[in-house]
Amino acid sequence: MSATHDADSAMVPPPPPLLHTDAAVLGAAVDHPGLAARLGEVRQQVADACRAAGRGPDTVTLIAVSKNHPAAAVRAAYAAGQRDFGESYAAEFRDKRAALQDLTDLRWHFIGHLQRNKMKWVVGQVAVHHAVDDMVGLDELTRRAWALGVRQDVLLQINLASEPSKRGCKEADVPVFADVLLRSPGVRWCGLMTLPPAEDDPAPWFARLASWQTRLRAQHGPALTLHGSDLAVLSMGMSTDFPAAIAAGATHVRIGTAVFGPRPPKSG
Ligand SMILES: Cc1ncc(COP(=O)(O)O)c(C=O)c1O
Repeated sequence: MSATHDADSAMVPPPPPLLHTDAAVLGAAVDHPGLAARLGEVRQQVADACRAAGRGPDTVTLIAVSKNHPAAAVRAAYAAGQRDFGESYAAEFRDKRAALQDLTDLRWHFIGHLQRNKMKWVVGQVAVHHAVDDMVGLDELTRRAWALGVRQDVLLQINLASEPSKRGCKEADVPVFADVLLRSPGVRWCGLMTLPPAEDDPAPWFARLASWQTRLRAQHGPALTLHGSDLAVLSMGMSTDFPAAIAAGATHVRIGTAVFGPRPPKSG
């Protein structure tokens, strides 16, 4: 080793100590092979479905469902132009949001059941909560939004097939939920959400959600106007069935696997 080299290396400062800054924690930009291409394909398919349904491409919002995927994957999708992301677990959402708060125009959507004790991490932090599904939760959500001085945009999740494995209010309870939602000062009721039974043809279920929109608009027209909503949002359609949902009038499709690839198991 030459004397010159030793003198040079003596001037190089030592590397900083290793901090807890790995990509999964901070969501640093990492290369996610194929993600931008998959996102581009899904966008094209959404646009094709809109065209086939005689709708403009801007009438549907693509929500990239990032649940179980690391913040770094969200950052990579953001770098590819994606802005709307969906999360299902409150604690995971809290951590991911903190890791990505520099992305100030990113819009979060909460698409899972929200437990009362976790409302504090979500209310006022998401553009839309898609899954109002129980009265007690709605009451807590309203109180929290009111206390924060915000009005939280929400959707009513309807369990159209009354599947025991799924959340969502029963069809018979929709009128009661409608009355409560329209009188809840902390929320703005923007529309409806559903998940059709996995094994069925989804098209009739999507049509059924759209018919609830028509019915509720007819029943509650003046109250909706006072509330400041026309119940325009229909959140339906996932990786395997979003073209059918768009054909039936979906305004928001929630797509995970087709964008991010298979979901890793939930950590923690
Ligand atoms: C409510 C909801 N919508 C959409 C999705 C996305 O599903 P997929 O990965 O099939 O697109 C999920 C995934 O679990 C979900 O829970």
